Amino acid sequence: MKNLFDPIRFRNGIFAPNRIALAALTNSQSHADGSLSEDELHWLNLRTEGGFGIMTTCAAHVSTLGQGWPGALGVNADHQISGLTRLSNDTHQRGGLLLAQIFHGGLRADKTVCGGRPISSSDGGPDGARAASEQDLHDVIEDFARAAERAYAAKMDGIEIHGAHGYLFTQFLSTTENRRTDQWGGSFENRARLLRRVVQAVRSRVPDSFVVGVRISPEDGGNARGIDLDESLQLARWLTDDGIDFLHLSLWDSFKMTAKRPAEHALDLFRRIVPADLPLFAAGQIWDRNDAQKVLDLGADVVALGRSGILNPDWPKKIVDASWEPKRLPVTPKYLSEVGLAPVFINRLRIRPGFLDESI
Ligand SMILES: Cc1cc2nc3c(=O)[nH]c(=O)nc-3n(C[C@H](O)[C@H](O)[C@H](O)COP(=O)(O)O)c2cc1C
Repeated sequence: MKNLFDPIRFRNGIFAPNRIALAALTNSQSHADGSLSEDELHWLNLRTEGGFGIMTTCAAHVSTLGQGWPGALGVNADHQISGLTRLSNDTHQRGGLLLAQIFHGGLRADKTVCGGRPISSSDGGPDGARAASEQDLHDVIEDFARAAERAYAAKMDGIEIHGAHGYLFTQFLSTTENRRTDQWGGSFENRARLLRRVVQAVRSRVPDSFVVGVRISPEDGGNARGIDLDESLQLARWLTDDGIDFLHLSLWDSFKMTAKRPAEHALDLFRRIVPADLPLFAAGQIWDRNDAQKVLDLGADVVALGRSGILNPDWPKKIVDASWEPKRLPVTPKYLSEVGLAPVFINRLRIRPGFLDESI
C-alpha cells in the first residue's frame, strides 16, 4: 500500500519528501508587476512549514497577454527572478520541493491586465479573442521556454505546465473550441501540437534534473470544454514520449467515475497507459487522510490539495494524529486571516459559493 509520507520519485530521478502537494491556487497576492510579495511568500511558507512536500505556485503567467488575474505571480520577466529565488530558498529551508505552475490564459486572460486583445485557438470568447497566428504561437512556445529558464535560474525544482481548466492549451486541445483548419487544428495530433511543442521546447532548455510536469483536465468539465477522455489518454502517451516527469489530473471530484465510461476511474485508466515510474498527481475533494489514502489506492502517486490546503496550512503534520479533524467550509474571514491569507486573497474567495461565512 502506498504511504502518503513515503518520498516520491519523479521520472527524472528527483525526489520529493512526501506525496502531499499544495495544488496551484490563484491568490491575487503578488505585486502588479508580477513579482512576489511578502504576503504571497508568507502564505506559501506557512504551508511548507506545515509539511507539504511539494509546493506549487499559483498559475503564473508566461506573458502579459496570457495573464489571467490582477495580482498574479509572473514568470514573464527577469526582474521577477529575485523574488522567485527567495521563495525557492525559503521552501528548501523548510524541506519542500517547489514547482512553478506556468500558464497562459488564452481567451480567458483578464482584459484589465493583459494589455491587448487575447489570443486563442479560434476567434471568440467573452473579450473577443482572435485566432492566434503562426507568429503568436511561435511566441507562446518561446515564452513558456523562457519562463521555465527563469524558474530554473530562480533555483526552483521544476514546473507544472497548466494544460487544464479551459485556458490556452485546453482551447487548442478542445474538439469544440478549436475550429482551425491549419496544422494547429482538426485532428487530435494537430490540436495537441501546441502543448507538445511547449513541452519539447521546455525540455530542451532546462537540464534533465529540472522536473517538468503537465496538469490536464482528462474530460469535459467546467471551463474545460470539448475534452475527450480517449484523446486525453493519447495525450498522456505523447507527453510521456516528450519527456514529462509527472502528469497531474485535475479531477474536481477524485471519487467520481469518468463521464464517458461510468464503470471506469480516470486514475485507473491513466495508470494503465503511462509507465509505472511516471508519477500521477490527482486533485479534487481530498479533505482528510482517509480521502487521500483512497486516492492513492485508486492509482495516484501524489495527492494535491486545494481548498483543504487553504484551510489547513499544517494538514500533513496534523493528519499523523488519526483523531484530528481538518477544518472544512465555510469559514470566516477571520479564520482565513489566521491561516495566513491577506485581505486581497480573502476577498477573492468571496466569489466562490460556499467558501465564506460572513455571519460572524
Ligand atoms: C481559490 C482557488 C484558486 C485556484 N487556482 C488555481 C490555479 O491557479 N491553477 C490551477 O491549476 N488550479 C487552480 N485551482 C484549482 C485547484 O488547484 C484544485 O484543483 C481544485 O480546487 C480542486 O481541489 P480541492 O477540491 O482540493 O479544492 C484553484 C482553486 C481554488 C479554490
